[in-house]
Amino acid sequence: KQYEFILTSRPAEGVALITLNRPKALNALSTPLFTELNDAVKRFDEDDSVRALVLTGSDRAFAAGADIKEMKDKQFSEVFKGKFLESWGLLTTIRKPIIAAVSGYALGGGCELALMCDIILASPSAKFGQPEINIGVIPGGGGSQRLAHAIGKSRAMEIVLTGRNFTAQEASDWGMVSRVVPDEEGGVVKAAVDMAAVIASKSAIAVQAGKEVVNAAFEHTLAEGLRYERRLFHGMFATKDQKEGMSAFAEKRQPKWSHS
Ligand code: HXC
Repeated sequence: KQYEFILTSRPAEGVALITLNRPKALNALSTPLFTELNDAVKRFDEDDSVRALVLTGSDRAFAAGADIKEMKDKQFSEVFKGKFLESWGLLTTIRKPIIAAVSGYALGGGCELALMCDIILASPSAKFGQPEINIGVIPGGGGSQRLAHAIGKSRAMEIVLTGRNFTAQEASDWGMVSRVVPDEEGGVVKAAVDMAAVIASKSAIAVQAGKEVVNAAFEHTLAEGLRYERRLFHGMFATKDQKEGMSAFAEKRQPKWSHS
């Protein structure tokens, strides 16, 4: 499907790549852009031939935030009644894993968008931040909550209250990104696509369950999370892929997943 503000492609078996493509505004996340992003994400989530997604921007900007020019004259009643930004959450409701490949600016809503993904890989050029304080507001796309979970209270406070950017290396040291991919390795998008291809080569039903249980760690108490994990683990014994995976191991052969 053709979009105006994003590009989509299928770079590897089982992998869909979404590229934010609004270069003149450093991929500022306007409502039309987000509508297209949600549409693409939903389509790929429903497409059985896709088992992992990658989301990226350009070398210069993953996304420089929500579109400030679109927001600046909005009134409270309008944003409240219109549930402004609520649709951004769609990305967090999909079943399939999504990897953010971040180069350049990932600021404000851009940082929040990366934090909504399941895994973040960064190029050395990545610049993260929640600069909303510099324009008289606060994060509104989950930044305060997901950032605090990802990097801890003191750092999240510093980032949200000073509005300073932080580097790829800091994000990595703080555990917010899995890895800074050195340029010599062929770039962060390639690394993310390769990782997505590995995930896509596994049983899709096990991958989906794995994503669900890790997310439970951020939503439940430890006791509830452990119970949830165990129940879902028990549930895996109702799948064909559990039988296939364990039989293949015992028979010293590669498994052939039916994703069911
Ligand atoms: C609208 C934006 C934009 C944004 C950049 N542009 N960021 N337009 N919304 N968030 C536009 C610029 O206006 C400019 O358009 C063009 O992109 C290129 O940007 P420049 O500023 O000229 O580039 P540069 O000097 O290299 O500076 C890059 C930058 C700066 C440091 C990233 O653009 C910047 O500070 N952007 C805003 C970052 C920010 O505050 N983000 C948080 C937004 S609030 P023209 O037409 O002049 O060429 C937010 C709320 C989240 O995200 C809460 C809800 C989710």
